[in-house]
Amino acid sequence: MKSTTTPPKTYRVKSFGCQMNVYDGERMAEMLAERGIAPAPEGEEADLVVLNTCHIREKAAEKVYSDIGRLTKVGRKVGKEPLIAVAGCVAQAEGEEIMARAPAVSMVVGPQAYHRLPEMLARAVKGERATDTDMPAIAKFAALPERRRVAPAAFLTVQEGCDKFCTYCVVPYTRGAEISRPFSDLVEEAKKLVDAGAKEITLLGQNVSAWSGEDEKGHQQGLDGLIRRLATIPDLRRIRYTTSHPADMDEGLIAAHGEVEKLMPFLHLPVQSGSDRVLKAMNRSHTGDSYLKLLERFRAARPDIALSGDFIVGFPGETDAEFEQTLALVDTVGYAQAFSFKYSPRPGTPAATMDAQIAPEIMDERLQRLQAALNRDQLAFNRATEGRTCQVLVERKGKLPGQWLGKSPWLQSVWFEGDCAIGDLVVVKLGEAGPNSLAGTLRVPVEA
Ligand code: SAH
Ligand code: SF4
Ligand code: F3S
Repeated sequence: MKSTTTPPKTYRVKSFGCQMNVYDGERMAEMLAERGIAPAPEGEEADLVVLNTCHIREKAAEKVYSDIGRLTKVGRKVGKEPLIAVAGCVAQAEGEEIMARAPAVSMVVGPQAYHRLPEMLARAVKGERATDTDMPAIAKFAALPERRRVAPAAFLTVQEGCDKFCTYCVVPYTRGAEISRPFSDLVEEAKKLVDAGAKEITLLGQNVSAWSGEDEKGHQQGLDGLIRRLATIPDLRRIRYTTSHPADMDEGLIAAHGEVEKLMPFLHLPVQSGSDRVLKAMNRSHTGDSYLKLLERFRAARPDIALSGDFIVGFPGETDAEFEQTLALVDTVGYAQAFSFKYSPRPGTPAATMDAQIAPEIMDERLQRLQAALNRDQLAFNRATEGRTCQVLVERKGKLPGQWLGKSPWLQSVWFEGDCAIGDLVVVKLGEAGPNSLAGTLRVPVEA
């Protein structure tokens, strides 16, 4: 047993992985703040550190142990080791192992149980170690404090978990079954977010387009219904959503892209591979062709829509010819941006024990070629928007005095100078494009 310690005065939450973890990290921070614990000042060690971990690939998962090691070392140096909580998907998947391997950790809390963090903390202060990886459906949201201050571009988790069981993926195990938060709770939280400073809300879910629920009148709604309702909140200016699976994209959502002005022209729709054989082995319920047809329908509804995707190279058994099919799909789509990863075998997933695992050198080479193609298309997309005038949501200050950074409707980073403030929606003319951002010129000084 560890010895008792003084209650922490400062905390730091470090979130890794997807935006849902970012959302969870914010909620955990709010719970700690509500109990009088302050965020640790930049550059200072915190009394309590929450490592909000990601299990999606091996590298991400291993990070937690190196972080714990670093925290303990620094703690010894300054004569006070922090209380450490491990949260997130590694906590869910490897809770017992963390407890056994890392004595410095006193709390392990899964993504569906973190509303119990304050109780665990009270026990940790008394020297007790505790693990909580229960999955009590949606109970946690009701137990969380209200939203008070948020960034202009805020996240809202509307759906949790995944029932898709792609053969490479840990998410169905770490986040549990698909559940949708109730319509009215979401409208309520969105209003609170707007009151707390949000101008844009990104609706989050591992499978966000599978969201469904009953609206105020008792009518069954899909994600598009929720989006249409949120669009009526007057001071909410922009809506986005992520991440979707091609199997859950229905006509309503496609139509919403053409009809709901506040819904931004951006779609992140992972495809993973361009080869139908590989897609089948991945248990993705779409083909390369059905995916392309789906994108065409989105483009028909919203011609300027920016497309984004996720790719895995080197899935077990992937041949050169199959990888070429992925490159061909990329050429056909012309993505505005995309994420690409080397396949990482994850414990407990079917793909981890499949034959013909691909050699690391081959994966490296494929990833390089894929990323070269994606970077080429990203630059081309950015260049094609040069000269357009659009609204930019100002998210932070730039490096130089008077410089600002914001996001275009197509989720591009835009730099510009002028008189405005964080949270303003300003009109900017897009200028010179680089691979990752564009320079812009402010057209109207304040709110558009
Ligand atoms: N729910 C989302 C995101 C899942 S995780 C979706 O289905 O799109 C984000 C991305 O990580 C996935 O789209 C996939 O490209 C990648 N990924 C998941 N498991 C992986 C693994 N074992 N190895 C490499 N990449 C993986
Ligand atoms: Fe993982 Fe597939 Fe579910 Fe996405 S849809 S979270 S890749 S199992
Ligand atoms: Fe990672 Fe869990 Fe998100 S594994 S990607 S943090 S759902």
